[in-house]
Parts: sequence; structure tokens; C-alpha cells
Amino acid sequence: MKVHTAEIEISAAKVADLPPPGPPEIAFLGRSNVGKSSLLNRLVGRKRLARTSSTPGKTRLLHVYRVEGDGRSLRLVDLPGYGWAKVSKAERRRWRGLVESYLGTRGSLHLAILLQDLRRDPSEDEHELLEWLAQRGIPALVVITKTDKLKPMRRKERLRVLRDALGLPAAQVIATSAQTGDGIPDLWRAIAGTLV
Ligand code: GTP
Ligand code: MG
Repeated sequence: MKVHTAEIEISAAKVADLPPPGPPEIAFLGRSNVGKSSLLNRLVGRKRLARTSSTPGKTRLLHVYRVEGDGRSLRLVDLPGYGWAKVSKAERRRWRGLVESYLGTRGSLHLAILLQDLRRDPSEDEHELLEWLAQRGIPALVVITKTDKLKPMRRKERLRVLRDALGLPAAQVIATSAQTGDGIPDLWRAIAGTLV
């Protein structure tokens, strides 16, 4: 999609604070520091729309971005990351409550994109999330992040390993880099493919 405008619509601490369902929503989900906010910025071609940070766990709200382009509107939703170190049980419960209530109740949710770092193996968390989405019939894609971190040979090898580990067909796993823009057109194509 050729993005015409992108702006923050709201940062909400709870689902009840979100605007009424409207344009289709694409949710970005994944471990803290995996690159959700960076990918979102790259997708819309804006360097600092979504806040990124080297301090994991900074995004603890639902950030909704309104995007217009190619004659259509979308909402991109940056969800809080999970899995940062030293998190208390209470915080973990809060994360789960917020994310599950968003994913489980939001009528305008169109697609969930689970991010996975190219250099890490999927953990129990990623497997559980994919399972959780599948059980509810929520369409999901996996986006591999930070492909720029490995040389092409290693990159291909890791992609193969990750596809096997995730048990997903190649078309449902898209390799990207927010730094170089690798895979961004593929990701837009995949998103657009779910909108028709
Ligand atoms: P939380 O909001 O804490 O859940 O993290 P996040 O998933 O939004 O990650 P964020 O986009 O803030 O990125 C975390 C770190 O990874 C930052 O230092 C980014 O610059 C870096 N990063 C993100 N994407 C890429 C990428 O494609 N390549 C490289 N080399 N670094 C990246
Ligand atoms: Mg973030």
C-alpha cells in the first residue's frame, strides 16, 4: 500500500478506551524488543511515528495508528511486548488481560501479525499465541524481524529453521528488516491480500 497519511489515533490503557470499531485493524504482537514499533514505522514510511526504544517493555499501552492510502483506511495497532526480564506476576497478568481482551473481543480486528527475531528460536510464548489465535479463527501471519543482522547465507538457513519450528507454510512467514526495508513490499502485499 502506498501510504498517504499516518497518524496516532490513541494510546489506550484498556480496550474500553479505544475508539469504536471502524477501519480494519492489523495488530502487531511479539516479544519486547523484537521490533514491533520499528516495523510499524517502516511500513508507513515514518521514522518516529511509533516510539521505539532500546529499553524493553516500554510499550505498555495499545497504540492505534490510523493509516490512509490507496483509497482505503486501516488501523495499525502496536501491542505491548511480552517477555522482558524481571517482570512481576502481576504485570504478566496485566499484559495477558489487556492483549487477550483486545484480540478476543475487538470486532474490527482483521489480522494479527506475530513478530519473531531471526536470531532467536520461537519460545513457548510464540507457540501459545499462535495456538490461541488459531483456536479463535483470527487470521495470523508471522513476520521475521531484523534480517539485516545476518549475512544472506545464514539468513536463509535461519529462515528455514524458523519455518520448520513454527510449522507454517512459507507464504505465512515473511522475512523483514525495519532497518533496510527488506521484505516490506512483501508484507504489504500479504496484508493487502487479507483485505479483499
Ligand atoms: P517493545 O515496545 O519494548 O515491546 O519493543 P518493540 O518490539 O517495539 O521493539 P522496537 O521497535 O522498539 O525495537 C527494539 C530495538 O531493536 C531497537 O533498538 C531497534 O532499533 C532495533 N530494531 C528493530 N528492528 C530492527 C531491524 O530490522 N534491524 C536492526 N538491526 N535493528 C532493529
Ligand atoms: Mg514498541
